Amino acid sequence: MKSILKFLFIGDVVGLPGLTVFQKWVPKLKEKHQIDAVIVNGENGAKNGRGITSKIVDFFKHNGVAVVTTGNHVWENREFYNTLNQRDDIIRPANFPPGCPGKGYTFFELEGHSVAIINLHGRVFVRDLLDCPFRTVESLLSFIKPRTNIIFVDFHAEATSEKKALGLYLDGKVSGILGTHTHVQTSDAQILPKGTGYQTDLGCCGALNSVIGMQTEGVLKKFLYFQKMGKFDVELSGPFELNGAVISVDTASGKALSIEAIRVIDDELYKNLRSASIE
Ligand SMILES: [Fe+2]
Ligand SMILES: [Fe+2]
Repeated sequence: MKSILKFLFIGDVVGLPGLTVFQKWVPKLKEKHQIDAVIVNGENGAKNGRGITSKIVDFFKHNGVAVVTTGNHVWENREFYNTLNQRDDIIRPANFPPGCPGKGYTFFELEGHSVAIINLHGRVFVRDLLDCPFRTVESLLSFIKPRTNIIFVDFHAEATSEKKALGLYLDGKVSGILGTHTHVQTSDAQILPKGTGYQTDLGCCGALNSVIGMQTEGVLKKFLYFQKMGKFDVELSGPFELNGAVISVDTASGKALSIEAIRVIDDELYKNLRSASIE
């Protein structure tokens, strides 16, 4: 059994550009960093950048992903609710109200070790009525900890303060806390004082010259003229970016040994994008 495991976390994958840059670069990163497992936030994987489908979960699985996490966009596609109920490799934030489809945490086996992934949603600047993420994770850990000490949290949240607060609240209790949802990578990857790897936001995978993956023009119309332009469209032009982090964990203690932000800018890939198709 390995005494150190290395994990690659990838932030919100947005539409076809995100899926394409993921498919090209994740195998290279796995080889370069000797990665044992990949975890990805797929909440924006759908063609229109909103939600995710079963086929996209399959796409991630075929491309070596252990667990797909999500966030606020997980409810966009109603037909996906069954998938959330049926599969153990796709999770949604645990602090949505009881009775929502799906589950907020999962386990998978890796090199003879059990690994737990927890998904949580922040409450600051979020309108939905969510349970307290701090108390939710505390109660989850009471039965996850006896099973494993290799535990990661995808904290899908807007406010950097809430994310850092949860990081310090869970320091020493989990292996890593990786933030998602803002789609912009923060440069604060660190190991917290009691051994938890932490990064406020992993960043996203999608078009670089866009507003968090969406076409700039439509977003500007909203900001400048308050025009309700309907739903924003995914930006398909390159270059593309891929963002995430590599974190290594001591399997005996569950503590993080290292964390490194990953950021790739690809200015070649988009030339063939229009011939690609993943629904
Ligand atoms: Fe997102
Ligand atoms: Fe989100």
